Amino acid sequence: PRHLLTLDGLSRDALNALLVRAQAFAEGHYDRRALDGIAVCTLFFEPSTRTRMSFTLAAQRLGADTLNFDASTSSTRKGETALDTVKNLEAMGVRGFVVRHHEDGAVAALSQHVEDGTVLVNAGDGRSSHPTQGLLDMLTLRQAKGNDFSKLKVLIVGDVKHSRVARSDLQALRTLGTGEIRVCGPASLLPDASTLEGCTVSHDLDAALEGADALMMLRLQRERMEEGLIASLDDYHRDFGLTAARVKRAAPGAVVMHPGPINRGVEITDEVADGPQSLILRQVSNGVAVRMAVLEALLRG
Ligand code: CP
Repeated sequence: PRHLLTLDGLSRDALNALLVRAQAFAEGHYDRRALDGIAVCTLFFEPSTRTRMSFTLAAQRLGADTLNFDASTSSTRKGETALDTVKNLEAMGVRGFVVRHHEDGAVAALSQHVEDGTVLVNAGDGRSSHPTQGLLDMLTLRQAKGNDFSKLKVLIVGDVKHSRVARSDLQALRTLGTGEIRVCGPASLLPDASTLEGCTVSHDLDAALEGADALMMLRLQRERMEEGLIASLDDYHRDFGLTAARVKRAAPGAVVMHPGPINRGVEITDEVADGPQSLILRQVSNGVAVRMAVLEALLRG
């Protein structure tokens, strides 16, 4: 595809090819002039630390010219639309846009109106999709557990309802033939049944952890949450927080992941987030490599 809007519909071969390329980048094999003369803009209408910074670094490592657009300090504040913003940046010669937006489908909508040579990468839209997070999570899992996912038991825990990360992870895990995908959270924070197709769903974290090989914790997205979905943060932590005692229920050598930012002491304790089984900062490192692979594939063809 010309843009990367979602992982839905991406074949296993295409996904694996991106992961193999990302692994080479992670090992430091890259051409610093691969995107020489190409301008890439990170266009963020929602806050970000990891995604925006790692896309900027990824583009710079491949030799692109980089621009950072932050809606909160731009003419968006004067009422300029996202499409007008893109059109103006296209007029300056920008070819690659990495876009984060609070509305579901916003990046796909923009893709209908851009010039032929323009490339869009979805850096997270509403609750829908965060494809490069899905890719970096799969790269991290591959490094830890090998390329064959058919025997893996992966557990996703928490606020799945509001999570574009969970949706992209679920799509990628299915495409890669994961042995068992478990999802656990309070009923109020789980999405509709179609999103959870093929998953083993539970509301009992202690039971769901038994024998799991990878524990993918999610951030409680309080900014997207209506009142009353959880009783209290203390209750949530008691029922769905990952503690060192709970990690012991998982398979020996289980790995702990979280996309960040972390609500420390809510969905995960400090001891686990910073502990020996945590791959949380490895995920962040892999984010740069995966984003290099995506930018190269889309902007060099
Ligand atoms: N994981 C993630 O998307 O983090 P940021 O919101 O900081 O980019």
